[in-house]
Formats: sequence, C-alpha cells, structure tokens
Amino acid sequence: MAIVFAAAVWLLSSSITATPIQSSQRPNGNCKQFDIPIFATAPSATYDIPRVNNDIEATAWAIYDATRSTVHGVGNIIKNTTTSGTFKIHAQLCVPKSSQKKDIIQIATHGVHYDSRYWDSDFQPAEHSYVDASLKAGYSILTYDRLGVGQSDHPDAYEVVQAPLELEILRQLTLMAYNGTLYTFAKQARPNDAAFNNLTKPEKIVHIGHSFGSFLTSAFIANYGNLTDGAIITGYIYQQFLAQTGSTTFSVEYAGTSNPPYKGGSGYVVARKNGIQNVFFGGDIKTAYTPAMLEYGNSIKQPVPIGEFASAFSLLGNVGLSFKAPVQYLLPENDFYICRGDCNGLADADEIRNTTYPHATAIEVAIQPNTGHALPLHNNATAGFQLTFDFLARNGL
Ligand SMILES: *[C@@H]1O[C@H](CO)[C@@H](O)[C@H](O)[C@H]1NC(C)=O
Ligand SMILES: *[C@@H]1O[C@H](CO)[C@@H](O)[C@H](O)[C@H]1NC(C)=O
Ligand SMILES: *[C@@H]1O[C@H](CO)[C@@H](O)[C@H](O)[C@H]1NC(C)=O
Ligand SMILES: *[C@@H]1O[C@H](CO)[C@@H](O)[C@H](O)[C@H]1NC(C)=O
Ligand SMILES: *[C@@H]1O[C@H](CO)[C@@H](O)[C@H](O)[C@H]1NC(C)=O
Ligand SMILES: *[C@@H]1O[C@H](CO)[C@@H](O)[C@H](O)[C@H]1NC(C)=O
Repeated sequence: MAIVFAAAVWLLSSSITATPIQSSQRPNGNCKQFDIPIFATAPSATYDIPRVNNDIEATAWAIYDATRSTVHGVGNIIKNTTTSGTFKIHAQLCVPKSSQKKDIIQIATHGVHYDSRYWDSDFQPAEHSYVDASLKAGYSILTYDRLGVGQSDHPDAYEVVQAPLELEILRQLTLMAYNGTLYTFAKQARPNDAAFNNLTKPEKIVHIGHSFGSFLTSAFIANYGNLTDGAIITGYIYQQFLAQTGSTTFSVEYAGTSNPPYKGGSGYVVARKNGIQNVFFGGDIKTAYTPAMLEYGNSIKQPVPIGEFASAFSLLGNVGLSFKAPVQYLLPENDFYICRGDCNGLADADEIRNTTYPHATAIEVAIQPNTGHALPLHNNATAGFQLTFDFLARNGL
C-alpha cells in the first residue's frame, strides 16, 4: 500500500522556489535559511505500538518502550507499507568568509528531542555553536530540521516519520548538495545575499550526526558509501549499553498538551526538563556545564514522534563495505543514554573496522572528557569541536 500525501499543488508550484526566512551574518561567514521540498519514497510499516493522546498515555508509552520484553524490530510490524510524498524540510546553509575549505560542506543531522538548533546555539555562540566553529575552521555547513520537528513538516507520528524515510531524505539532501541544486535553492531564497550568489558545487561532503542523527549518518555511510567523503559520528556507538536506560529516562509528556501545544498531533511526545538533564547533561556538575546551559538546552527542545523509536532498529548495525573514507567517533565521556554514563572503553577502532567499515581509510575513537550527551552545551565544547576539525585536517578534509 502506498501512503501518498503530497501536497500536489504546492509541489507543482514550488519545484525550485524556496521560502524566505532569514539571512544572517556570522563572525566568520554567512548563513541563510530556506525550505526545500524533498520528494522521497521509502519502505515503512504499521507498528504495533500504543496511541498517545494525553500525558498518562505518554508515560505509559515510555514504560511500554522500556519494558524488557517489548519487541523492537520486524516482529513488531503489523503491515509493511511504502511511504511517498513531498516533504518540506527547513534548512540553513552557512558558508565561510575564508575560501580555504569552502568546497567542503558538512551535512549535519541532529538527534531526537532537538532540531537543527542543536548545532547552532544562540546561547554564547562563540563557545557553543558548532556552526560558528565550522565557519571559523573554514568549512561550509548545512543543518536541517529532521522530518517531524522544528520548521519542517510534522506528518503522522506513527506511520510516516520513520527511520527509512529519514534516511532517504538525507540521501536526497546529499544528492542535491553534490549536483548543485542545494546551492540554487540558497541563491534563490529571499532576501538576496551576495554571499550565496556565486557558489560553485561542493567538491566534498562530510556527514556529521548526533545521537539519532548518528544512527542515520552511520546507516547512510554504510548503505551509500560512494555518497560521502568522510563522517563524524557523535554521541553514538552501537554496543550493549545503548539505550539501556530506556525511554522512561526522557520523562515525557504529550506534546499536544504541553506549553505551547505542538501541532504534530497524536503520537508526539516531549521531554520534561528533568528528562533533558537525564539524557543530555553529564559530567562533574561543578565544572561540566552551567545551569544556564541546561536552561537553554531545555528551551530549544523539540517533540519526538514515537514511530521513530519503533523503526530505529533498521538503522543499527548496518555494515558498510562501500565506505572508503575516514570516520571519527566522538563520544562524550559521561553520556548517560548511550553508555549508561561512562563511554570509556566501549568503542574500539579495530573492532569497528572488523565488524562495520572494513574499507574505511581511517577510523578514530575520541572521548570528550567531562561532558554529557549534548556535546555543544558543555563548558569545554570548543575543545571538543577542535577534535573533529583536527581529525578532518589529518585526513585531507
Ligand atoms: C515485513 O517485512 C519484513 C522484512 O522485509 C519481514 O521480515 C516481515 O515478516 C514483514 N512483516 C509483515 C507483517 O508482513
Ligand atoms: C539533483 O538531485 C536532486 C535530488 O536527487 C534531483 O531532484 C534533481 O533533479 C537533481 N538536479 C540535477 C540538475 O541533476
Ligand atoms: C564567481 O566565481 C568565479 C569562480 O569561482 C570567480 O572567478 C568569479 O570572480 C566570482 N564572481 C564574483 C562576483 O565573485
Ligand atoms: C554509487 O553507487 C551506486 C550503486 O553502487 C551507483 O548507482 C551510483 O551511480 C554511484 N554514485 C556515484 C556518485 O558514484
Ligand atoms: C580484528 O580483526 C583482526 C584480523 O582478523 C584481528 O587480528 C583482531 O584481533 C580483530 N580485532 C578486534 C578488536 O576485533
Ligand atoms: C577539554 O577538551 C580537550 C579535548 O578533548 C581536552 O584535551 C581537555 O583536557 C579538556 N579540558 C578539560 C578541563 O576537561
């Protein structure tokens, strides 16, 4: 069965137009925000998962999801389906003032509970915005709101926002970056900004992810190894402690009754502030982060469609024989959700090579000390960003 919910009129009228939103000057570059209509078709499924329409059902879903005998996988599928549609994806392209590495673009995919602002803190950006740090290091960078959150479309939380469709959206964005369409969108978006009028196609693409965005990034490089020139996997390593603390850790409520209420509808849940702290903040409470950072991290949180959790299994453990590029795993030392609070010793470059990316040109595991899951929102964030830029430079990127 094909679930088609393309907004046909919008599709016809917007084949290559972009909605004006915002253009901004940064200390080391320029950024422009715009919407991209992305046509995508992908396998999907009707999963046997509870409905969530109020706070009690939200907590009940979290308990269900964390229950040890709950099936996460094909065994939980009632019916296999296909989803096709044109989805509005909100994106921000930033280009550096220096031309040094301008032709290398990073495509950054955020995790659950956030949108693209995860990469681009408004709070003390010189210390906490990965976007600004990338511009300073000379890279172009594309950030986008994944389907279901931020200013992108918020389709059905059970049937539509699922992992394979999100993987396909990342593939389409990547193809658009390689073939120049992405830069055409950026140029055409209003207001006009000269910094975007004369961009040449990028020569190289580095994919970077955080958390669920790293599930997507690692599956992407495994399945489409010839569509990437390098990858940075942050806040994720596939091993026994992954998600062991369970979804109750998020302390969710129903997003439709939260303040302000979210328009996604049934099946979208949102973390309370203590859930944001549980998952995203870690390390020595006196030195790792400040109350203001936690406050900011809570203020930019986003709801999560529960179909994403039911379908996430498809992204795990994909083997990438076609990946022939460098990959860095950057783990926060005190990541509670991924490593149950201690990532030391859980990732090994040789083992990753043996099991997952045998033809990678380089595999590095780096640990960012005294830091929780939300790497940019800790005191030592810029030193962590530098670990990535140094790795890229060592590998010709
Ligand atoms: C759905 O597809 C998967 C993999 O293709 C298969 O293993 C599973 O049995 C199918 N489930 C149903 C209910 O058809
Ligand atoms: C570029 O790639 C996108 C995404 O696959 C596609 O829709 C578009 O037609 C391509 N454009 C050109 C000029 O090849
Ligand atoms: C546009 O880019 C081309 C090629 O990179 C360059 O030669 C030209 O000077 C640029 N034009 C402007 C107006 O920047
Ligand atoms: C990547 O590989 C696929 C299948 O192996 C092929 O169809 C495609 O043309 C390749 N793309 C590039 C950019 O090399
Ligand atoms: C990886 O494979 C090599 C060659 O088979 C083997 O010598 C090594 O012990 C393996 N390392 C790990 C960590 O699995
Ligand atoms: C900050 O991070 C860098 C890079 O990981 C590390 O070398 C340094 O020790 C850290 N500083 C503190 C105070 O944790």
